[in-house]
Amino acid sequence: MPVVLAVIVLVVLAGVVLVGASRRRDSGAAGLSREVRRSDRSNPALATGGDEALSGREFEAAEAAARPAGDVAIVESAPPVPFVAPDPVALGVTRRQFFNRGIVGMMGFGLSGFGGACLAFLWPQGVSGFGSKIRVGNLIEVLADVENNNGFVYKPEGRMWITAYPNGAVEKARAAYSPAELAGMTAGTEQGFDAGIVALYQKCPHLGCRVPNCVSSQWFECPCHGSQFNQVGEKRGGPSPRGMDRFAVAVDGGVLVVDTGTIVQGPPIGTNTTGQEAEGPHCIGEAGGH
Ligand code: FES
Repeated sequence: MPVVLAVIVLVVLAGVVLVGASRRRDSGAAGLSREVRRSDRSNPALATGGDEALSGREFEAAEAAARPAGDVAIVESAPPVPFVAPDPVALGVTRRQFFNRGIVGMMGFGLSGFGGACLAFLWPQGVSGFGSKIRVGNLIEVLADVENNNGFVYKPEGRMWITAYPNGAVEKARAAYSPAELAGMTAGTEQGFDAGIVALYQKCPHLGCRVPNCVSSQWFECPCHGSQFNQVGEKRGGPSPRGMDRFAVAVDGGVLVVDTGTIVQGPPIGTNTTGQEAEGPHCIGEAGGH
């Protein structure tokens, strides 16, 4: 029961507070401090003829009564002007267009330069030197060169030795060599030269040392382990597993062309088509037979 009374009292008090607040809002002093109200009363511009300032409603009512009725002019505003896009010709190139075109142009220029560099890098170049087809020279002159150099001509650009192949051994060669090798060997008999030609790879078939010629024996003799080969690269002694490797040869219009990109394995052990024996002392001593 006391609780019910307390609730009723609270509700009544709340109603009183709400009514008081609404009356204060309606009064001219609502929300103003005492100092502000005193200042407003002392300001003649805010004076309304009485000692007290008008409330909001009173002020609005006074204004409405003072307003002449029926002569309120409604001025219509001008209709909105429709948007007309600027003439691009008159406008010319805008700053945005200029920068866009500049950026695209620079990117295109850079990409095309990069693409050109890649293309130039990948484009097949005309190769020369070892690995390419080397035009050694006129076969007659090459044979003369071989003779003048005591049977051996070294061509460093092709890492090869060039020696003559005797015409008398061609028939044996036909049974022992491939067509790629025979093209040079048979050039003498088939094209009317004093001898054919062989182009031998300088690399020893054993372990890869460079094989020099031996002037006294007229053979090739490897300084590393003593492998020996006759003048046309057929194995005569030492640990080499075969004769000297050689290159495919062609005679093109009388010019000797050696394809250093095509290495042909040397003939097997026991091949001795020329029958050339050592013509003097060996340069490397006794060959170690394997
Ligand atoms: S590398 Fe020539 S004989 Fe061994």
